[in-house]
Amino acid sequence: MSDLEFFLILLPPILALFFIFNVFKTKQNTLNLPPGNMGWPFIGETIGYLKPYSATTIGEFMEQHISRFGKIYKSHLFGEPTIVSADAGLNKFILQNEGRLFECSYPRSIGGILGKWSMLVLVGDMHRDMRIISLNFLSNARLKTHLLPEVEKQTLLVLSSWEDNSAFCAQDEAKKFTFNLMAKHIMSLDPGKQETEELKKEYITFMKGVVSPPLNLPGTPYRKALKKMGEKTENLEDDDLLGWALKHSNLSKEQILDLVLSLLFAGHETSSVSIALAIYFLQDSPNVVQQLTEEHMEIVKAKKQAGETELNWDDYKKMEFTQCVINETLRFGNVVRFLHRKAIKDVHYKGYDIPNGWKVLPVVSAVHLDPSHFDQPYHFDPWRWQNIRGSSSSCSSSWLATSTMSNNTFMPFGGGPRLCAGSELAKLEMAVFIHHLVLNFSWKLADTDQALAFPFVDFPKGLPIRVHRHTFII
Ligand code: HEM
Ligand SMILES: *[C@@H]1O[C@H](CO)[C@@H](O)[C@H](O)[C@H]1NC(C)=O
Ligand SMILES: *[C@@H]1O[C@H](CO)[C@@H](O)[C@H](O)[C@H]1NC(C)=O
Ligand SMILES: *[C@@H]1O[C@H](CO)[C@@H](O)[C@H](O)[C@H]1NC(C)=O
Ligand SMILES: *[C@@H]1O[C@H](CO)[C@@H](O)[C@H](O)[C@H]1NC(C)=O
Repeated sequence: MSDLEFFLILLPPILALFFIFNVFKTKQNTLNLPPGNMGWPFIGETIGYLKPYSATTIGEFMEQHISRFGKIYKSHLFGEPTIVSADAGLNKFILQNEGRLFECSYPRSIGGILGKWSMLVLVGDMHRDMRIISLNFLSNARLKTHLLPEVEKQTLLVLSSWEDNSAFCAQDEAKKFTFNLMAKHIMSLDPGKQETEELKKEYITFMKGVVSPPLNLPGTPYRKALKKMGEKTENLEDDDLLGWALKHSNLSKEQILDLVLSLLFAGHETSSVSIALAIYFLQDSPNVVQQLTEEHMEIVKAKKQAGETELNWDDYKKMEFTQCVINETLRFGNVVRFLHRKAIKDVHYKGYDIPNGWKVLPVVSAVHLDPSHFDQPYHFDPWRWQNIRGSSSSCSSSWLATSTMSNNTFMPFGGGPRLCAGSELAKLEMAVFIHHLVLNFSWKLADTDQALAFPFVDFPKGLPIRVHRHTFII
């Protein structure tokens, strides 16, 4: 074979490659990607994105990127090309199109620890099956009959241990409360028992795994966390999730354990942080505490007259201003700041292209702190929620009413087919805790502390507070 023949044989594939490359290039060029900066190779801009910042702000990274590129920009995060969205419309579009255009896509570290069946990482039919079980288990009917009494019991257990003029970490107390509640509700484990304490230890190991790098080496928290919590599937009670799921579903034991783990994870960290945030915001807002106290005094008065002691669903429904405080806490504190998604098709949105396979991060916190959606977003102002409650007639608030309610700008619990399964429980926990808190205590910070986003929201010093007991004459 002469050199010429050899060349001629090679020519078609070379031409083909050349052609493909060009088509690829023009395709890339004709794509209208959002503006942005891809950062350094491999690590991209991840380090800047994950740098800790005050939880009541959007952080320097977001601020700089939004002012440079707008509310939708491209970046390179968590090892992948990414579209970041601080745009209310796009966020809603992403969440509503789950399974069609976008799909939940959490980093491997989370999927690895929670197990391959975990709800937070599952997609498609398996996700749907697990979701149905969780929703049944957290249904309004169960909330009224099972959960409300349990929430109050666990609240009183924690609060009654607070001595007059004592100082402690409020975040630890909130964690104790939500952990005990979930352990009881999911596995019928009672607080203080050896099993519960062991589970707590295991769980802490597991949490450390989530926030440390995903290196599956012996001795790392990640590896320890993978070792699954105790296979205690004997002596089950029908009242807890474990027993219920074994009886009423045909999920395997492995799947149920993963479901239990994801519920413990999803239901414990988030609601304890929101309670800590409420304690933090309230100590700085005496007029809010004043109005809360009036609302809860009214409830207690009525109960006293009726000769009742335990809170019931009607009492809960009367906590209207408390619901405003809860919404405002979630808006301003942003427990879950952004969600992890990826495009599963080539997507076009408002002139921009989002290529198939790219990561997409809807940043709900950026919308909650956007002055074009919330007037004076950096003010803790529960009254902003009062205007919008069911009032279509109130003219002063009609602007807020449209932008807050119908436009889905408020998404602390996500949205679409993956909307938080425990949102009602979380609000119930906050309300009942606030009820007994304002009726029995006043509190101040015992040391300076603030909520930081790591990006998991956390108080670096654990939110040290000093409490005083008081008694109201009713
Ligand atoms: C204030 C407290 C809470 C906040 C801010 C919160 C927030 C969220 C958010 C944003 C999501 C969506 C994640 C995504 O789309 O990728 C979610 C999902 C979920 N949450 Fe919550 N959550 C809270 C409390 C709870 C509680 C108390 C439980 C119940 C035990 C719970 C159970 C779940 C479950 C099971 C999912 C997965 C739903 C699914 O994928 O279908 N959450 N939560
Ligand atoms: C709150 O105060 C009332 C009345 O003083 C008391 O009966 C109740 O036990 C207190 N609750 C807690 C959690 O300390
Ligand atoms: C339960 O079993 C039925 C019939 O064997 C099957 O079709 C279904 O997919 C199973 N469901 C789950 C959640 O595994
Ligand atoms: C709180 O926000 C939710 C939306 O998540 C809304 O449906 C509810 O009406 C709000 N509550 C109040 C008291 O404004
Ligand atoms: C969102 O609310 C604004 C008013 O604040 C309104 O002009 C706009 O049309 C709304 N957008 C959507 C998508 O409903």
